[in-house]
Amino acid sequence: MKKHIVLLPGDGIGPEVIAQARKVLRVVEKKFGLSVDTEDALIGGAAIDATGEPLPPATLEACKKADAVILGAVGGPKWDKAPKRPEAGLLGIRKALNLFANLRPAVVFPELAELSALKKKTVERGIDILVVRELTGDVYFGQPAGEETKDGIRHAFNTMSYNEEEVRRIARVAFSAASSRRGRVCSVDKSNVLHVSRLWRSVVEETHRDYPDVALSHMYVDNCAMQLVLNPSQFDVILTGNLFGDILSDEAAAIAGSLGMLPSASLSDAAKGGGIGLFEPVHGSAPDIAGQDRANPIAAVLSLSMMLRMSFGQEEAATAVENAVHAVLRAGVRTADITGPDWKGEIAGCAKTGDLIAERI
Ligand code: IPM
Ligand code: MG
Repeated sequence: MKKHIVLLPGDGIGPEVIAQARKVLRVVEKKFGLSVDTEDALIGGAAIDATGEPLPPATLEACKKADAVILGAVGGPKWDKAPKRPEAGLLGIRKALNLFANLRPAVVFPELAELSALKKKTVERGIDILVVRELTGDVYFGQPAGEETKDGIRHAFNTMSYNEEEVRRIARVAFSAASSRRGRVCSVDKSNVLHVSRLWRSVVEETHRDYPDVALSHMYVDNCAMQLVLNPSQFDVILTGNLFGDILSDEAAAIAGSLGMLPSASLSDAAKGGGIGLFEPVHGSAPDIAGQDRANPIAAVLSLSMMLRMSFGQEEAATAVENAVHAVLRAGVRTADITGPDWKGEIAGCAKTGDLIAERI
């Protein structure tokens, strides 16, 4: 297998964690006889500093030609007041590559169960949720959007909007994911208030007719936020729109106790198993610890493993990466974010954690 991927380290801890993913990739290549060449490109604040643009045309061109993309993180206080925001780079690449399907698994790592913010008895029932978030529509991209001043009063507005095709294609992704998991989809909306959600719900129901083996339920987003804390084990696949998915996927990750551990995939036609994929840690750029070798590289390394499996069909290599991560977690060496108050082992930096994972491949 010969592939070409683009690495987008981005901002904050992005470059540190991507360096570890690269390290692990080199070992995987040797061990499994793969050939994956990498090309680095700029995105986010780093790209603004170098070119004035959060998504330079050269980056987009490189990504379009690649077999897959791995991204670190974007954003940081340095650009909070900049005329162009780093986040625009991420939103731009999602839209330009048509990455409408965002898959965010939230699982409790057995080695880390005690780190969940939830009660032990709640976590013991098991948490293994896949959030399927629509990523290229909704209030994130709806027009009109902007700011204006009328009669001396400032006013800002966004438009929440979905068409039925956008809903149908993400619903298909969720149903097919559920059929190879525990066979349940919970579609999350706010159809007691929003027109957009009423369309969402009816299109999800229509699409469901093609997936008789999957059980479908619906939940309002406020209730879902509560149920995630009270009884997360009830969920298999959560299907939702862009804004609700942004919020619920962070919540799901936090209840799993492992924001620094979770990868994600953004795909353009995942239901057909094709299209370009962008893989990134769910955590952000963590500017407070950037450049200090304190970041947890596991989410980035698991993003690599997700890429190997989903984009390249390299199941064996992907599993080897995951097993190496679990072996390191059991070995008594961890980055600070995943050591609880009772931790007696060694606290390791980002680079050392990457080395340990690479050694165990
Ligand atoms: C995420 C992030 C982004 C989003 C930001 C950085 C634009 O929070 O990937 O969840 O809102 O989608
Ligand atoms: Mg988010």
